[in-house]
Amino acid sequence: MDPKPHWLRAGVATAGVLLLAIVAPAHEGSNPSLHGAVRPLPRSVVLDARKVALGERLFRDPRLSESGRLACSSCHRLEEGGDDGLPRSVTNTGEPGAVNAPTVFNAAFNHRLTWRGAFRTLEEQAEADLRNPRHAATTWPRLLARLRDDPEYVRRFREIYGGPPRREAVLDALATFERSLVTPDAPFDRYLRGERDALTPRQQRGWRHFVDYGCISCHQGINLGGNLFARFGVFADPSDRAKKEKIYPGRFLVTGNEADRYVFRVPSLRNVAVTAPYFHDGSAATLEEAVRRVARLQLGRTLPEAHVADLVAFLHSLTGYWRGRPLGAPPGEAEDRP
Ligand code: HEC
Ligand code: HEC
Repeated sequence: MDPKPHWLRAGVATAGVLLLAIVAPAHEGSNPSLHGAVRPLPRSVVLDARKVALGERLFRDPRLSESGRLACSSCHRLEEGGDDGLPRSVTNTGEPGAVNAPTVFNAAFNHRLTWRGAFRTLEEQAEADLRNPRHAATTWPRLLARLRDDPEYVRRFREIYGGPPRREAVLDALATFERSLVTPDAPFDRYLRGERDALTPRQQRGWRHFVDYGCISCHQGINLGGNLFARFGVFADPSDRAKKEKIYPGRFLVTGNEADRYVFRVPSLRNVAVTAPYFHDGSAATLEEAVRRVARLQLGRTLPEAHVADLVAFLHSLTGYWRGRPLGAPPGEAEDRP
């Protein structure tokens, strides 16, 4: 392996978020967590179980949308990867939306939410989604009236929040449920906790490439992503840049600053093996394709195919457990939690 730390060359736009990855390449015998550049997910989180249950009911309820057709779970399928498996989500009018749906699993650990990093909290994001004319397209008076028509909601809101359904309580319940969507115990997390055999030899090689090539300079922290902004296309332009006006401009939409055109929040790589297709526009169908392209665009490297395969094997080790099964595993076919 080329000993030169290529991650040093990765142009990272930190945009107000500190770049934490001052990391050394992983050598045999060094601390596999690289002094905290990456961390395992917590095995449990302390939350009010009644709020989690109410939030889940809201999350799965299509009555949250004005059309009565789109629940949060229509696009964030909890039995799959917490996304919708489509290149770009279909809006309430049946047309493809602007971007790919990111997973809601572990979203609570992202410092900013959405591809352009528009929101800081799950509450802000949920409110924007409910009002978004292409998603729930509703208003608070109409949504609260629908919830107040349902005696079960009225009973639960009264019990937990001491009153009828209100804006703050709806947002709090939804966000509390989303905070419960944590997927611990991925093989990589067990490896970080000291179980050296949790990763196959190929996955361990992939992890080493991940550090040595500098993927970790952008994909780091507890979610291996979600805490930095970076230009998509540091070393090369994504091929279709010619039709400039048709390309989703990313963070430029938030700041209006030309320097932020094509800058995106670096996505989390947790559970990435079960959230195809990839990139903000869903333009890569497989992980192999995504890894090849990202190495070219973000690092200016064409990787040997063996390294692509090692990296993909490593990315498969980032799939954690939810409710006792590996995320996205079809019922009945998965092995249970070790
Ligand atoms: C029509 C499909 C659709 C529906 C319905 C939907 N979402 Fe999303 N969600 C998306 C898409 C697409 C994005 C990315 C938006 C962007 O980047 O601008 C997203 C982003 C998010 C994110 C940010 C994740 C991250 O890491 O950046 C969260 C959290 C989220 N949605 C929660 C919800 C909740 C809660 C609801 C219900 C109130 C909901 N979504 C309804 C498609 C949907
Ligand atoms: C300079 C920062 C940077 C570096 C270095 C980097 N990435 Fe990324 N990565 C990004 C950004 C930004 C995106 C989102 C691009 C988009 O869709 O607009 C991304 C997307 C991805 C995705 C798709 C995730 C999804 O859910 O759609 C994968 C997989 C990925 N990167 C893996 C890697 C690997 C493996 C490496 C090292 C070979 C790497 N990245 C290096 C910034 C980086």
